[in-house]
Amino acid sequence: MEDAQSLPARSPVAFGAPPIIGVLVSGRGSNLEAILRAIEAGMLAARVGLVISSRSDAPALAIAARYGVQTCLISPKAYASRAEGGQAILAALREARVEYVALAGYKPILDGAVVRAYPNRILNVHPSLLPAFAGGMAPRPQTEALAAGVKISGCTVHFVTEEVDAGPIILQAAVPVYDDDTVESLSARILEQEHRLLPEALKLVTAGRVIVEDGRTRILTSPK
Ligand code: GRF
Repeated sequence: MEDAQSLPARSPVAFGAPPIIGVLVSGRGSNLEAILRAIEAGMLAARVGLVISSRSDAPALAIAARYGVQTCLISPKAYASRAEGGQAILAALREARVEYVALAGYKPILDGAVVRAYPNRILNVHPSLLPAFAGGMAPRPQTEALAAGVKISGCTVHFVTEEVDAGPIILQAAVPVYDDDTVESLSARILEQEHRLLPEALKLVTAGRVIVEDGRTRILTSPK
């Protein structure tokens, strides 16, 4: 099996070409659309080379198609183990020459081999201010935030490590929690920030402006 070092290095030909992002989805796809819009608007100098969905019925697939992005379905159910599914994901990412990966509402836990193949190159967006309310897909973190009575919540974009929702934090945005909030109203307020934060984090990471030291990130004012 290839290891982390085999990640396709930026070749002289690729130098100057926009970095290629792979996006993994399972559902609605509003964060995928935020990435595609940021690219279209010239705010993020990158290309989405592949969208992998864990579900055939994910509305995100139609969004990818609308933007002319190649898609593929890799359903964990089709594989005997998480490791086998992980190999299929890795093969698809490599085939599309993906250099950075964004988990945008991706439900399955990513196989460790995929995480190790893209060290500090896989980003996830989570709808809470981590490390609070880690684990679980939306709307669980928002539901737990409301139940805990916090006055501030928000979202976090972090690097993916093998421990769920525990990788180095890249960016966070806070939103107020109001007395009359419902899970829906709080989720909508957080989602608005997710759509801003994920493209911004991708911009910083693909520009080489995020370094990781002792499990924490530092954002450089200019690329290293
Ligand atoms: C978002 O709230 C994200 O933080 C969480 O799942 C949701 C996905 O939404 N991981 P969408 O599919 O991007 O619209």
